[in-house]
Amino acid sequence: MGHHIAVLPGDGIGPEVTEQALRLLEEVSRLGQFTLEATEGLIGGRAIDETGDPFPPASDELVHRTEATLLGAVGGPKWAQGPATPEQGLLRLRASLGLFANIRPFEVLPGLEAVTPLKRPFAGGVIIRELLGGLYYGEPRGRLEREAFDTSRYTTSEIERVARLGFELAKSEGVPLISIDKANVLQTSKLWRDTVTRLGQAEYPTVRLEHRYVDAAAMEMVIAPERFKVVVTENLFGDILSDLTGGLVGSLGVLGSATVSQWSQGRGLYEPIHGSAPDIAGKGIANPIGALWSCALMLEWSLAKPEAGAFVKDAIRRTVAEGICTPDIGGSAGTAEVADAVIRHLHILAGASR
Ligand code: NAD
Ligand code: IPM
Ligand code: MN
Repeated sequence: MGHHIAVLPGDGIGPEVTEQALRLLEEVSRLGQFTLEATEGLIGGRAIDETGDPFPPASDELVHRTEATLLGAVGGPKWAQGPATPEQGLLRLRASLGLFANIRPFEVLPGLEAVTPLKRPFAGGVIIRELLGGLYYGEPRGRLEREAFDTSRYTTSEIERVARLGFELAKSEGVPLISIDKANVLQTSKLWRDTVTRLGQAEYPTVRLEHRYVDAAAMEMVIAPERFKVVVTENLFGDILSDLTGGLVGSLGVLGSATVSQWSQGRGLYEPIHGSAPDIAGKGIANPIGALWSCALMLEWSLAKPEAGAFVKDAIRRTVAEGICTPDIGGSAGTAEVADAVIRHLHILAGASR
């Protein structure tokens, strides 16, 4: 069966990492003997330059007629002050797809122990970040001359649907679910905590549920990350804490994500968690692993190819273990060189499984 995906490269290092991600996906499709059609669309600053709109209708239409979307990254100093910003394009893309659960796994890749701040082995975990609510989308919002305001809003059903995915994952892994909020201060967090607690009691009595305040959780994630196997949290806290996990595993550049709306096959949005990295854009040294890992998640979640997804992850681990790394994780390889090595390992793994 053939597959059709959308690719939105975006700005800065976005096009550099998505180019390599596409090469990898094409290789996977050759090895797996299925056809993969990838159609490119505009988003972000490049879309503003070419159409005046950071998420033009053609891109919206494209992501709705494909099974999965691969996004690079958006943004950059050129567009930071404009009336329309690249980041608005990304938020509109997410809202249009209606995908609310942003799954951000983190693990220390073999060989990177020395570049992480951790002094002992740790397996990693998953942050499930609510992606369509909270401060990112609440109205009213505005900026006056000497005053600005945003609104954080959550409904019980928005909290329940993402918490349910958290409980499902914690249950299947046999670990506690850690829910992170700021319920000592924020009304939305009080609702969050009550709703998650009620859902746990009603539907997941066997899953251990632990609550944390976000400030203390940030500290604890640094000193005892092994306690955070499955985390569920609201949009802004998930954004911040997932970058923290980038620090824990050695670089933001190695983390990918999947955004879905159900614990089974379906349309998904796949993006590395990093941004457009204007400081290194155009140098050919961006770490492509976050984008490649996102491809593995796409194979698992949207393209019904879990075995291929597992091969891609293993090929990435072997590449890093061999020392073929970009400078952010202590190596001297370029973006394409890392992808070449991942593709080479993929062939070895696929050959061995035949
Ligand atoms: P950033 O993630 O772009 O960069 C932070 C730091 O991490 C930089 O030093 C960068 O060089 C490094 N880094 C990030 N990805 C890397 C990679 N793949 N390989 C090697 N090093 C990497 O965050 P920022 O600098 O705060 O933001 C830059 C722009 O990106 C802003 O416009 C921001 O809004 C945007 N942004 C977009 C997304 C997205 O599109 N999903 C995510 C985050 C930030
Ligand atoms: C991310 C980014 C985005 C977010 C921005 C660019 C809108 O930081 O994907 O983590 O905050 O969600
Ligand atoms: Mn972020």
